[in-house]
Amino acid sequence: MTVIHTRIIGTGSYLPEKILSNADLASVVETSDEWIQQRTGIRQRHIAADSEMTSDLALKASQRALDMAGIAPDKLDLIIVATTTPDMVFPSTACLLQAKLGAKGMPAFDVQAVCSGFVYALATADQFMRSGQYEHILVVGAEIYSRILDWQDRGTCVLFGDGAGAVVLKRSAEPGILAACLHADGSHAGILSVPGSVSGGKVSGRPLLQMDGTAVFKFAVKVLEEVAVETLAIAGLHKSDINWLIPHQANIRIIQATAKKLGLPMERVITTVDRHANTSAASVPLALDEAVRDGRIQPGQHVMLEGVGGGFTWGAVLIKWQAGSEDS
Ligand code: UT7
Repeated sequence: MTVIHTRIIGTGSYLPEKILSNADLASVVETSDEWIQQRTGIRQRHIAADSEMTSDLALKASQRALDMAGIAPDKLDLIIVATTTPDMVFPSTACLLQAKLGAKGMPAFDVQAVCSGFVYALATADQFMRSGQYEHILVVGAEIYSRILDWQDRGTCVLFGDGAGAVVLKRSAEPGILAACLHADGSHAGILSVPGSVSGGKVSGRPLLQMDGTAVFKFAVKVLEEVAVETLAIAGLHKSDINWLIPHQANIRIIQATAKKLGLPMERVITTVDRHANTSAASVPLALDEAVRDGRIQPGQHVMLEGVGGGFTWGAVLIKWQAGSEDS
């Protein structure tokens, strides 16, 4: 029997037009460009227009990924959207995206794993692909964090931005995705959360992001190294085999510390946090799309994608990059 693998045949991303600089933020809360850059590496972030919903950002990123893949939306067998900021309680953003793509019939659902969302969704899609029932899958990470931030809280509002990234996956005889590892530890739910909910027609609890920054920082550095090593071991590879590391883009200091632990020079780490800030589930596919389109990622190279975030959740997907679109 032929072994089924998953490969990426298209990537795409979208960032809202409006840019909010650190200087702009300094006129809203007591902060400075210097503090934000020094502590986080962030220079600016994109903010969605009032008229834009998460599914709109997802649509633009998906269309670009489908264009690169050279396939029409009706060829998709499954749509998965990773988001923590859905358009509404239900239907899922994946269903809304499906309709905006003009497709119907194939299953569509959301994955909620906060900043690990894209890695969770990609690992999930890989399992569906390996089942043999599916040939093309769309996986999207899309977020509008600007709507769940407390713009009076300088400890959190400077850190996040809006955006979307997408990949089109195709069934393949060769990997593609070499290995994936996912983890969660709900006992740390309190260090990063949006504790509000809808009840009796009202919002109950505080529907804004709250975080223990130091605890999140320490946890992230620890698990990002651990899960990379665990994922490499499944594939029978070593730290030195990683050509490109694409970690969740939360803070340049977390990224640098992770790279150091993995023995990787920063030249082999893709970073967008300076321009995008933390876009949660969108950060990894946004960075992946940038590095694919500018030619840094080349066929045959090993790319390690890593997520970490609220839940707490974390995970990694290791890919051997393959050339190509639908026809290759
Ligand atoms: O996807 C995962 C999501 N979250 C993260 O990855 C975040 C992880 N954590 C971090 O990135 C860092 O912990 C932060 C960037 C949030 C904070 O950096 P830090 O070096 O841990 O700073 P701190 O929290 O220890 O705060 C140092 C000082 C405090 O003042 P005092 O108490 O020393 O007087 C804060 O009040 O910096 C102050 N501060 C600010 N000052 C200017 C906090 N936020 C700001 C700000 N501008 N925006």
